[in-house]
Amino acid sequence: MVTFQDLIDADERVEPRDDMPEAYRTTLIRQIAQHAHSEIIGMQPEGSWITRAPSLKRKAILLAKVQDEAGHGLYLYGAAETLGVAREELLDALHDGRQRYSSIFNYPTPTWADMGAIGWLVDGAAIVNQVPLCRCSYGPYARAMVRICKEESFHQRQGYELLHTLAHGTPEQKSMAQDAVDRWWWPSLMMFGPPDTESTHSAQSMAWKIKRHSNDDLRQRFVDMCVPQAEILGLTLPDPDLRWNAGRGHYDFGEIDWGEFKRVLAGDGPMNRERMAHRKSAHDEGAWVREAARAYAARSAR
Ligand code: ACO
Repeated sequence: MVTFQDLIDADERVEPRDDMPEAYRTTLIRQIAQHAHSEIIGMQPEGSWITRAPSLKRKAILLAKVQDEAGHGLYLYGAAETLGVAREELLDALHDGRQRYSSIFNYPTPTWADMGAIGWLVDGAAIVNQVPLCRCSYGPYARAMVRICKEESFHQRQGYELLHTLAHGTPEQKSMAQDAVDRWWWPSLMMFGPPDTESTHSAQSMAWKIKRHSNDDLRQRFVDMCVPQAEILGLTLPDPDLRWNAGRGHYDFGEIDWGEFKRVLAGDGPMNRERMAHRKSAHDEGAWVREAARAYAARSAR
């Protein structure tokens, strides 16, 4: 008899109507929902700069990027819904703290250079983590990721270009760019999740080909990618232990403050309360839109 694992091992794609173990379904709902929530909460740190962008061109770019993030949330909630869960349930779980969103969106954006650092580092880390998800065993998630990754790639480049402009501007602009990189570097490394030795879901998710690489492998890939890019920017990465290890063929880097990561996951990061309060009030204020959409759908069905 062919088992579910045999199909996965043969690189078959799992589609919504296929039989799947309950734990596979719940793991996917957990990960896809967390990912969707990250996209919509991730609109907040940059959204606050749309009205303060320094030129019309920068404003148009930032507006497009934040709209893309809303779109990513929609594709991902749609993918989660194919697993038999309603979007309302997922949002309830976010709002009452049963589901998470990425740790990275609990940090503040005090300067315009943060828009560059988020694009370069946060979206850069997202791409490294998400390109392998285009080959995830669950079809709807994998297909959503293809489009998301293309857009993330534009986001990453716009951030890099923004930082490059600041880094080659006045001394004040350069120091603003450096300060943003100093603040975003370590939280970006935390985006990849806990070390492999402490990752509860990795082994099973890799066996199911939901995840294709471990948290530490992707983190290393990100560090190796960023070091030469920082050199071109003319900025430094805030890690005295960062150096090339010819034996390993990778950059060694310093110890991540996992205590900070745990505090942020427990709800005690610099911006956790503000982000959730804003999300809930946006949801409440949007109630009339959902109501009107439901009434319109009911009338059209009649
Ligand atoms: N922020 C918040 N929670 C995290 C993070 C993080 N950066 N990393 C791990 N966790 C949580 C996990 O959700 C899990 O908690 P749970 O059991 O309560 O759900 C716990 O820490 C242990 O971690 P892992 O066992 O390693 O979890 P997992 O196998 O799901 O791997 C990872 C975590 C790598 C983030 C994975 O879920 C993933 O690839 N998700 C898709 C990408 C994504 O969500 N990106 C969002 C940010 S990018 C963006 O939106 C621009």
